[in-house]
Amino acid sequence: MEMLGRSIVSIRDFPKEEIQTIVQKSLEVKAGKWSGVLKDKVLATLFFEPSTRTRLSFESAMVSMGGQTIGFADANVSSAKKGESLADTIRTVTGYCDAIVMRHPVEGAARLASEVATVPVINAGDGANQHPTQTFLDLVTIQEEFGRLSNLRIGMLGDLKYGRTVHSLAKALSLFGAQQVFISPPSLRMPGYTQEQLKQVGADYEEIEDISELTQELDVLYVTRIQKERFADFQEYERVAGAYTINRSAFEVLGEKCRVMHPLPRVDEISTELDETENAIYFRQAHNGIPTRQALLGLVLGVIQ
Ligand code: CP
Repeated sequence: MEMLGRSIVSIRDFPKEEIQTIVQKSLEVKAGKWSGVLKDKVLATLFFEPSTRTRLSFESAMVSMGGQTIGFADANVSSAKKGESLADTIRTVTGYCDAIVMRHPVEGAARLASEVATVPVINAGDGANQHPTQTFLDLVTIQEEFGRLSNLRIGMLGDLKYGRTVHSLAKALSLFGAQQVFISPPSLRMPGYTQEQLKQVGADYEEIEDISELTQELDVLYVTRIQKERFADFQEYERVAGAYTINRSAFEVLGEKCRVMHPLPRVDEISTELDETENAIYFRQAHNGIPTRQALLGLVLGVIQ
């Protein structure tokens, strides 16, 4: 696998074997291998949209491996506010750092940035499109929990239309033979273009509207927030807001062993009564952002092989 200098834009750019290697490297980093290897490297974090986990875990990953970070967490304090194009911002910042992590509201922005930059660009979320590093940390968490990525039955619940994390994750899981169940209101179904891509790789999936329609228990329920900020019509948001809340009684249909994941932030789609249960693995999932992003940075900067 050649990762040196490579941008991470879409999970579709990674074949199954490369995904497995990245998951393995992340677990090696978590086990303590490869410490301090990013000394003298600089990461630019360009966040044109809000973030807690992605930005802070990238920054923590960089600092904890000896590197440094520059950047902004709000587009309003960058020269984008003065009308600078994204291409010109990237052409400039590429000269200040060894890698760029960028979150942007426009789908395709990360691809454009990767074509302009002379350093690797890591997509930290582009609109409702993709969030590949979230998928890598999701897979690291699944591998840790089940000891495998293959032959799992995984439900994805909530906003499957605008939720970029599930777009990336569904594509990755399809490479590992997962049985996937997409659970959403009709207006928030997995987009047609994503379903087409899943069909092309022979993905095994079904769509239902509520967990009460499940015919088999799940290994994992991956819950997502309704993405209020992406709705053009607020009334449409209000129609679906609060459509789902997973609480203890849900496990009667999910199965007692079902693990609950969530990319976070959570609003009200998972009851806090689950937080201390063995089923809830969403905070460990968030913490796996550190070793996963350490591994990805080390790989694209050529210090982890
Ligand atoms: N999961 C995730 O992307 O969280 P943030 O929006 O806080 O970065």
